[in-house]
Amino acid sequence: MTGGCQRCAFERDEPLADDDLVEAVERCGACPHLAVPGERALFERLHRVLRQHRQSRSLAHKRERELRELKQASTRSEDRLRRLELAHHVSGEELEQKSRTLAMISSIASAANAAASIEESMHLFLRPLCTGLRMGAGVASLGDELGMHFVVECPDPMALGGALAALADSGWTALARVGPEPIELEPEDLRWTGEWRTRARAAGIRRALLLPVFLGGEYLGGCFLFGFTPRDPARVSQDLLVAAASVALGAQAAWVCMRESAAAAQSAAREAAEGASQAKTDFLSSMSHELRTPLNAIIGYGELLAEELTEIEAHELVELARKMNRAGRHLLGLINNILDLSKIEAGKMMVDAEVVDLAELVEDVVASVQPLVAANGNQLTTRVDTPLIPLVSDGIKLRQILFNLIGNAAKFTRGGAISVTASAVEVGGRWLLRLTVEDTGIGMTPEQLTHVFQPFTQAEIKTTARYGGTGLGLALCRRLASLMGGEVRATSMKDRGSCFIVELPFSA
Ligand SMILES: Nc1ncnc2c1ncn2[C@@H]1O[C@H](COP(=O)(O)OP(=O)(O)O)[C@@H](O)[C@H]1O
Ligand SMILES: [Mg+2]
Repeated sequence: MTGGCQRCAFERDEPLADDDLVEAVERCGACPHLAVPGERALFERLHRVLRQHRQSRSLAHKRERELRELKQASTRSEDRLRRLELAHHVSGEELEQKSRTLAMISSIASAANAAASIEESMHLFLRPLCTGLRMGAGVASLGDELGMHFVVECPDPMALGGALAALADSGWTALARVGPEPIELEPEDLRWTGEWRTRARAAGIRRALLLPVFLGGEYLGGCFLFGFTPRDPARVSQDLLVAAASVALGAQAAWVCMRESAAAAQSAAREAAEGASQAKTDFLSSMSHELRTPLNAIIGYGELLAEELTEIEAHELVELARKMNRAGRHLLGLINNILDLSKIEAGKMMVDAEVVDLAELVEDVVASVQPLVAANGNQLTTRVDTPLIPLVSDGIKLRQILFNLIGNAAKFTRGGAISVTASAVEVGGRWLLRLTVEDTGIGMTPEQLTHVFQPFTQAEIKTTARYGGTGLGLALCRRLASLMGGEVRATSMKDRGSCFIVELPFSA
């Protein structure tokens, strides 16, 4: 059909793409070919088929596009998933790292608590430090001395030993003393000596961490850790700070624990001492009764016996009874002195305050010592310048002091003179009662004078044999006087005599 409609695709002898064909059919609605009824029906059918074909093609395109989009979305999701997986993996590792750090801190804290000394605590730190920081081995030091080391894993323990020996001489303490900051080192570091560098390399050490410990600004020591694997730059610095802080805290805690346990031991010792002192006081008060009662009975019955024996004129036996009596009195004096001294030392001796008639007191004491004064052929004179101020003191203790001093003067003087005086003196704007007991007896050398106030001390070894006594009287006098706020002192010259001076406040 040539020479027909120019627009009609059917007039052309060229192959048409499906889409072009459909278009051509649609455009050629006016084509005379289509006016032919049979052909028209054919064309309509063709037209329908082609339209369906075009629709399914565009649907296919659409599906294809959708599929492409779906694929892209899925790739994006996969990417996201991969990223998520990665993130999850990282946070898992971080979590593991954090829990390792926490474990390290808590181990260090319990090490600090368990240790009896800072040195021990530093050794106990090593294990958690090494595992917490993934280091193979560690050594703790106190001061400049390297202590025991701890090994988690190490390729060559023998070589490590050699490296540690070289480390001791490497001058590392100067490095540690710089400050509390942790120090990270590699064996190549020039701050080390050559020997250490060689040995460290031979032992497979790839890096070292030094954690110095300062307490109260003072260098205490440090922990040295060694790694046999290369460092992980992402982690190490943060871990290091945590480790250094934990070690410092641990050492601090160990120090506090030590001080606490020392304080606890001290207070336990104090309690024990207080308990012992209480026990001593209880013992003394019961002994005081238990010893004095039978002794007083012996003395009393001895006197009675001497009287009875005198009456029946059994003279030899009288003398024996008197000897028994004297021995009893001596023992009673000794017991009284020991008990009094112990009571003062236990802090249980109380001071009474009462108005004391000084003249009467001196007269009483002199009267009781008079037999001894007379027995040794001495002359005793007293002079009491009764002070205007009333004396408020502990009469019993005052009597005890005076009795001891006059007793000594009478005992250590033969055929001499003893003078007892009481007066008021002003010392440093304060009125004091001064009692003096002076004699012309055997006297003492300056050296002897220095120790006669100590308990159980006499001027000479032979004193007891010659004069009797136990060396407790002066010790007791001095303690009693100081309890009453005063003092006892003495001056003396060998073979010339002695002077004992007591000064006490007027009101106790
Ligand atoms: N008046 C004195 N003259 C010489 N020596 C004295 C005198 N008083 C004390 N002493 C010396 O001091 C020592 C201690 O005296 P004291 O403590 O009273 O003990 P005791 O009288 O039991 O020996 C005496 O043993 C004696 O050597
Ligand atoms: Mg005496």
